[in-house]
Amino acid sequence: MRTLLIAGNWKMNGSKALLDAFASAFAPPALADRVEVAMIVPFPYLDAARRAFESTPLKLGAQTLNPEASGAHTGEVSASMLGECGVTYVLVGHSERRALYGETDADVLARAKTALENDLTPILCVGETLEEREAGRTMDVVLAQVEAVLSPLAPTARQRLVIAYEPVWAIGTGRTATPEQAQEVMAGIRGYLARLDTTLAEGMVLLYGGSMNAGNAAELLAKPDIDGGLVGGASLKTDDFLAICQSAG
Ligand code: G3H
Repeated sequence: MRTLLIAGNWKMNGSKALLDAFASAFAPPALADRVEVAMIVPFPYLDAARRAFESTPLKLGAQTLNPEASGAHTGEVSASMLGECGVTYVLVGHSERRALYGETDADVLARAKTALENDLTPILCVGETLEEREAGRTMDVVLAQVEAVLSPLAPTARQRLVIAYEPVWAIGTGRTATPEQAQEVMAGIRGYLARLDTTLAEGMVLLYGGSMNAGNAAELLAKPDIDGGLVGGASLKTDDFLAICQSAG
């Protein structure tokens, strides 16, 4: 049985006070054994988050990384720095990075490789725009994004990824994909993985992201190919996020 992963992505939001609020909310053993929870916080909060979350089950994630090991890259952060801050997960290919910062599939692959080489777990984000969905291109777009990263990787490396399906039109819009829409695409992703390797397909943790909240999480997470969530807005509220985590498992 696959682990369920709920990852809260604060994006460029939050505060040290919010870290403390999450540390208190998750201090008691509030989670089912099968459920893992990660908080993906802005870089400046990583070290404080590690300390604040010490006595909680919360794992740490980062929102991006630079593919180079070190050097003259003002403003960038390397994988080894993330490792030193206690990071477990790192997002690669989030649609905001693709759309606002021009990250291409090749950039996403480079970041995923560097993450893997540094024992970080990349969460590969993929998803179609509204125009692409309306043109009937959803599966082609999503599978091309998955293939661009998975196909150059060695089989053992592929097994260490998590994939998050996030329809771009559902991110931050309050317009969630229906459980059926999400399941259809995620079953398609798992089908693609099965064509590569059935063990890979069975083990891969697939997350849904896009306006997941305390009200819709249970229905989404009940679908057979949805193994968790990548949660943006609702990960900024302790009660909502805890409720999402408790509706998993
Ligand atoms: O990384 C999280 C996703 O982009 C979803 O964000 O829950 O605010 O729609 P959202």
